[in-house]
Amino acid sequence: MPVGTQGTVKGISPQELLDIGSQMILGNTYHLMLRPGEALVAAHGGLPGFTAYPGPFLTDSGGFQVMSLGHLRKISEQGVIFKSHLDGSLVELTPERSIEVQQELGADVIMAFDECPPFPAEREYITQSLERTVRWLERCLAFKSREDQALFAIVQGGIHPDLRQQSLDLTLPFQTPGFAIGGLAVGESKAEMYPAVEFTTARLPADKPRYLMGVGHPEDLVAGIALGVDMFDCVYPTRTGRFGYALTDDGRLNLNSSAPRRDLRPIDDDCDCYACRHYTRAYLAHLVRAEELLAPRMLSLHNLRYLHRLVERARAAIATQTFDTWARAWGRQYFGGEL
Ligand code: GUN
Ligand code: ZN
Repeated sequence: MPVGTQGTVKGISPQELLDIGSQMILGNTYHLMLRPGEALVAAHGGLPGFTAYPGPFLTDSGGFQVMSLGHLRKISEQGVIFKSHLDGSLVELTPERSIEVQQELGADVIMAFDECPPFPAEREYITQSLERTVRWLERCLAFKSREDQALFAIVQGGIHPDLRQQSLDLTLPFQTPGFAIGGLAVGESKAEMYPAVEFTTARLPADKPRYLMGVGHPEDLVAGIALGVDMFDCVYPTRTGRFGYALTDDGRLNLNSSAPRRDLRPIDDDCDCYACRHYTRAYLAHLVRAEELLAPRMLSLHNLRYLHRLVERARAAIATQTFDTWARAWGRQYFGGEL
């Protein structure tokens, strides 16, 4: 899922998202409730009407964003009180309020209001917080009234197998239509994250979507798919594009550097995105150096298409039972033969 925090995937039009094969856009409760307010989005008939993107949406519940963006927060059993990063006003977010906002925003998939502990955190704190996350899940389900939105539960537990197991034991009985793996990609190493993903996916139902939140980099998508993940979201393709980087099978191409300045090849011969069909690396490097608006747009578009094509290739490999071979070959090339 491309990330459309403010009701827009930065710099990319809805038609472009449809053209590159995006299947669902992520929106944020935290940002949209503060500005422009969920009522205005609802007045447009929800996110599809507001943004003119006619496809599926998923909204995150806000707890994670409060922790990373809000100031002066107070967490209690009731919910979270924080200072808006926009005007400093005090705002409360509770499980009920998160669902109320998400119902107004009108996404197809909405997320339970959870607590994502920072990394590192004390085991005792992670335990208390995962238990509270389950009580908040119960409150979300009790408050939810729309029948046309799927609410996904979020499994927490940090990188500790026993705490993940405890979170799974408490969460699985609710039989939500999908399950997310939260609390990862928050500062731990990949050597710590992948085993936690594997432990969790192995215990989630195979017939429901498994969503790894806030991940990932190209190698995380390939590794995550190998471990049984079905859904991802990450700002990486658009953010790294805005910084002048293009994703390729040979790794990340830096268009701020001098190497591409006379390079008449496209970013990627195999890519069918608008940038690769029309522009040379030299032209795009020129746009980056000249700080032209087209540069972040085209690099974001290419990077999103690169990740969509990456999972299309993974799907094709799974269908022909060649995923392992394909994944290893992709990894060797991406990391320059060092995998
Ligand atoms: N985005 C990335 N990680 C998380 C998480 O643990 N919870 C929520 N709600 N969103 C996230
Ligand atoms: Zn491209």
